[in-house]
Amino acid sequence: MTLAYNFEEIAPRDLRPELYELDGISRASVEAHHRLYQGYVGKRNEILGKLADVDLGSANQVWSELRALKVELSFAVGGIKNHELYFAHLGGVGGDPTGPFGDLVKRDFGSADAWRADLKATGMAGRGWAWTAYDRDEQHLFNYVGDAQNTFPVWNATPLVALDVYEHAYFLDYQTDRASYIDAFFANLDWDVVNGWVEHYGSAT
Ligand SMILES: [Fe+2]
Repeated sequence: MTLAYNFEEIAPRDLRPELYELDGISRASVEAHHRLYQGYVGKRNEILGKLADVDLGSANQVWSELRALKVELSFAVGGIKNHELYFAHLGGVGGDPTGPFGDLVKRDFGSADAWRADLKATGMAGRGWAWTAYDRDEQHLFNYVGDAQNTFPVWNATPLVALDVYEHAYFLDYQTDRASYIDAFFANLDWDVVNGWVEHYGSAT
């Protein structure tokens, strides 16, 4: 028995032009980072292609082709989604959050400074990512920690800010000084993009 699974290959998104002129994050770093993202897209397509032919009858929790492909698919898809958020909301002028996201930050964290301090600390504590996400069940923002592309998002929460703290995001520009990279990340956020997501996903309702 084989898995009847239909999927379409996807193509990597191009970088917005602003990404080549960030404040404190070099073009060389962004270009290398974008190539990593392209790799996630390629592997996502490759894995889904292999899943179409996998033998369902051999599925096994210790090791099986189905298990291996599905576990690593979550890494590839996580890598795509995380980086598409990351690249999309950089290229702005930073500063305190504005608009509906700014209102959510004030409501749930008390102030922009408190939100920024918590997200920065979460990023210092993570091994891969820190996200500000809106939990639709609890109806508030929270800064979540991630150790890899596929850990540890929670269900029914929509990420609105995605802070990449993998070393590949900053080693070229900052070596091991992650804290300074995080400051540069904040200085390049585009609040119009984030507010577009708040409105698109209805996060404030
Ligand atoms: Fe990354």
